[in-house]
Amino acid sequence: MKREIFISRGAIQKRVGEIARQISSDYAGTEPVLVGILKGSIFFFTDLVREISIPTKIDFMRACSYGSKMHSSGCVRLTKDIELPVEGRHVIIVEDIVDTGLTLAFIKENLESRGVESVRICSLIDKLERREREVPVDYCGFQVKEGFLVGYGLDCDEEYRYLPEIYLLKE
Ligand code: IMP
Ligand code: MG
Repeated sequence: MKREIFISRGAIQKRVGEIARQISSDYAGTEPVLVGILKGSIFFFTDLVREISIPTKIDFMRACSYGSKMHSSGCVRLTKDIELPVEGRHVIIVEDIVDTGLTLAFIKENLESRGVESVRICSLIDKLERREREVPVDYCGFQVKEGFLVGYGLDCDEEYRYLPEIYLLKE
């Protein structure tokens, strides 16, 4: 499939720095637990954590939603859970992209049921076109209307994750 560059490495770095500064100031005096959603958020997650200037703890979750490679089915299942206790903690979910919102709505409710102090969502990309569940994206890297994006962790059937920039896939 053809692809065209959509967000450059420099633009990503600049935006990640801005979000990190915002989180550092919003959570000053606390030690939030950052929960990266595997695998798509890995590069965003590691870049973000290293730019945040307050202490944090890190952990990971993995959720699967069944469906074709470009469309989520809405049936979400946890295939890897966090290992740190989060009761009484501030939690920030770090995701690659919010599309229908079904994955994050599920993960957010799951974490909220564990007696956390707060849960916020930080997503590299907020894709507005196909939202089915309203989820608040508290920290958003880039808003896009539509299109399938790959690179910087984002995949299409496990391809393209390794690319350092974000590309728009063209059929
Ligand atoms: P949801 O539709 O909000 O549940 O999104 C679920 C997952 O679909 C995201 O976490 C991504 O892993 C994947 N996804 C949705 N849109 C894209 C895209 O444009 N590129 C790559 N992955 C996507
Ligand atoms: Mg994902």
